[in-house]
Amino acid sequence: MGCSCVYYSGVFVTGAFQRRALSTLFPKGLVSPSPFYQYHRNRRRVDASVSTAAKEQQQLRSPDLVALEYADLNLTHNVSQELGHVRIRQHVNPLSSSLAGPVEVPDWNQVFRDPTLPLMVDIGSGSGRFLMWLAKRNLFVRNYLGLEIRQKLVKRADVWVKELGLSNIHFMYANATTSFNQLVSTYPGPLMLVSILCPDPYFKRKHHKRRVVQKPLVDSIVNHLIPSAQVFIQSDVLDVALDMRNQFDSLPHVLKHVDEIDSSVLCDSEGWLLRNPMGIRTEREIHAEFEGAKIYRRIYQKQL
Ligand SMILES: C[S@@+](CC[C@H](N)C(=O)[O-])C[C@H]1O[C@@H](n2cnc3c(N)ncnc32)[C@H](O)[C@@H]1O
Repeated sequence: MGCSCVYYSGVFVTGAFQRRALSTLFPKGLVSPSPFYQYHRNRRRVDASVSTAAKEQQQLRSPDLVALEYADLNLTHNVSQELGHVRIRQHVNPLSSSLAGPVEVPDWNQVFRDPTLPLMVDIGSGSGRFLMWLAKRNLFVRNYLGLEIRQKLVKRADVWVKELGLSNIHFMYANATTSFNQLVSTYPGPLMLVSILCPDPYFKRKHHKRRVVQKPLVDSIVNHLIPSAQVFIQSDVLDVALDMRNQFDSLPHVLKHVDEIDSSVLCDSEGWLLRNPMGIRTEREIHAEFEGAKIYRRIYQKQL
């Protein structure tokens, strides 16, 4: 269906940086954005107002957009009676004592077909669709680990992974703040990419300490990434994006933002990346863009 042709012909990727960044994000040139993602981007460029009118007329809801964007995963929606209703809005306090200790490290040979492959970790993986989409495109090339603090989401993701028959992805019910270091330090292969995408905002100042991006996690990410590996952060909440950005910007001797490495990287005047480089949007990103929000993104690269 010529996905990569559309992709490289300037709709989404323009310039050498995106191709280079994408070769990290999508190893071996397996760059193939979701057809709906391409449609969405083209459509938005063509005429945003028509799209708003059409949205109203067709009464499209953002969950419909998620289903469309992830249609090729073909996931069942009523997963199982035993899981019950997965309450997406259920909140978990990451500072609760039950989540204070690190999780048990799995036997990596049991969870991945080849545990020496480069690893991507998605912190706060939510439903897991985003990571499944990537894993399906990068079989035998990269492993994917999703860390998620809401157990029901992990259980449902496990069912979906089984259905998809993927051997390069694993979801863990874990508090990333307390478990990331232990998990990645035991993984046999290199850590290539860490993503923290639309983390829970915890708006109240007194709850900022619940935010997942805290100094020890940042240090651990930076220590475990191999040279030239990347960190991808994004949020639709400016305050959260700035909080994450300040923490990663504070290590300029080890991490550089990709536009410092390649002048063809497209950023706005505030230094936020203009494009999502992943080829697919996360669910939160879809919902936020549907509501008209801007997504604030940064990608850092570890120095040699
Ligand atoms: C707003 S959702 C975003 C999910 C997904 N990244 C996306 O963009 O659609 C944030 C997710 O992070 C999870 N989360 C929050 N704190 C966490 C922590 N300390 N460790 C692991 N996951 C966490 C939440 O349960 C939730 O699923």
